[in-house]
Amino acid sequence: MRFSAPKGTYDILPPESAAFLAVVEALSRPAILAGYGYVQTPLFEDTALYQRGVGESTDVVSKEMYTFHDKGGRSLTLRPEGTAGVMRAIVEHRLYAGQLPVKLWYTGPNFRYEQPQSGRYRQHVQVGLEAVGVDDPALDAEVVAIADDGYRSLQLTDYTLGLTSLGDEQCRPGYRRLLVEFLDGLDLDADTRRRVQLNPLRVLDDKRPNVQAQLVDAPLPPDHLCGDCAAHLESVQSRLRALGVPYVVSPRLVRGLDYYTRTTFEFTHRGLGAQASIGGGGRYDGLLETVGGPAMSGIGFGLGVDRTMLALAAEGRVVAEPARCRVFGVPLGELAAARLFVLVAELRRAGIAADLAYGGRGLKGAMKAADRSGATYAVVLGDRDIQAGTAQLKDLRSGEQIAVPLDSLVATVQERLT
Ligand code: HAM
Repeated sequence: MRFSAPKGTYDILPPESAAFLAVVEALSRPAILAGYGYVQTPLFEDTALYQRGVGESTDVVSKEMYTFHDKGGRSLTLRPEGTAGVMRAIVEHRLYAGQLPVKLWYTGPNFRYEQPQSGRYRQHVQVGLEAVGVDDPALDAEVVAIADDGYRSLQLTDYTLGLTSLGDEQCRPGYRRLLVEFLDGLDLDADTRRRVQLNPLRVLDDKRPNVQAQLVDAPLPPDHLCGDCAAHLESVQSRLRALGVPYVVSPRLVRGLDYYTRTTFEFTHRGLGAQASIGGGGRYDGLLETVGGPAMSGIGFGLGVDRTMLALAAEGRVVAEPARCRVFGVPLGELAAARLFVLVAELRRAGIAADLAYGGRGLKGAMKAADRSGATYAVVLGDRDIQAGTAQLKDLRSGEQIAVPLDSLVATVQERLT
């Protein structure tokens, strides 16, 4: 019986996996520099946390969750996104009672039962962060700029940052009524009508041409903000300008999750086709309260690592070479294999990437493996060498070979490699 990775999932193998790790590192570094601490939450949570926290009207909750009952009869769900779990942790551990804002970053896989296509998977990895407890537009700009710094540090250029405001509890209800009134006058199917009732803003995000064509004159959130929200958006923009972070105001931008209020943003990459969003986020004032915490504001983002990899490929960028073996051990005979086994470990302990021909391959096979490893040096050791207390250090590029005393081999290699 043969198995393959489940539909919508894939394996990340060397050498690309080195780039994957480098992307996680590059996207998280700006957050660490800005004082965000690493948080790790479980890969599954109570199903109700996502129903309440992410919202019943979203595709993520209504169609895409991996929900199961454990042997204790609990309904659990594999994490479809990071924010709800982090909010749960902040409330459970009363982090909101300490220094504010609570600044946390995370990385890891998320699970959504989506229709797989290029850039859309059933398991995807995000680097995300959340800043909770301070309602300051400067914090919004910090969060957006951290994401932008991450992409820039990878030398991505072919992307756009779209920014909007979805309003707050003051102005959103009035806007919502206006939008529902407008949508009621359109020719929409039953499913979409249901969505109008649940969360009409999501209809603005409908990609179908027949729906988009009817939405040309739809009222848009940034045109109906109250004074406070308009000032907040203006302030975020002026901070972004001060930091030199390019953005465009995108009045039609609404995101797939229900919790967003005020500042909402998305990074889209032009090389990715339909699944162009490489990351996004926004403010979610009210979310902490929804999951049982105090009424505190928050803002965060999730950056798609898989899609960032695709964006890098689309721009022809190489991020990281896989760690290269520098020294390769070629033992001739059992005694030599035992001695080299220890010597290679000593090289590694000295910080030198080293490997060894296993399996008693003989000189020819072992030298071939040494060449394939990309190593700079081969250490060839035979029984006669052991008696003489030396090893043969062979420069694999020039072919030059010298005898080196076994007890100074690590030092000699170290010297030659620097
Ligand atoms: P999201 O937009 O659902 O937001 O996901 C963030 C990013 O994850 C997307 O922009 C995309 O790059 C990537 N992504 C999402 N779904 C998939 C998928 N099926 N396959 C591949 N990549 C995917 C959130 O998850 C929010 N929790 C972000 C946030 C944090 N907002 C506030 N704080």
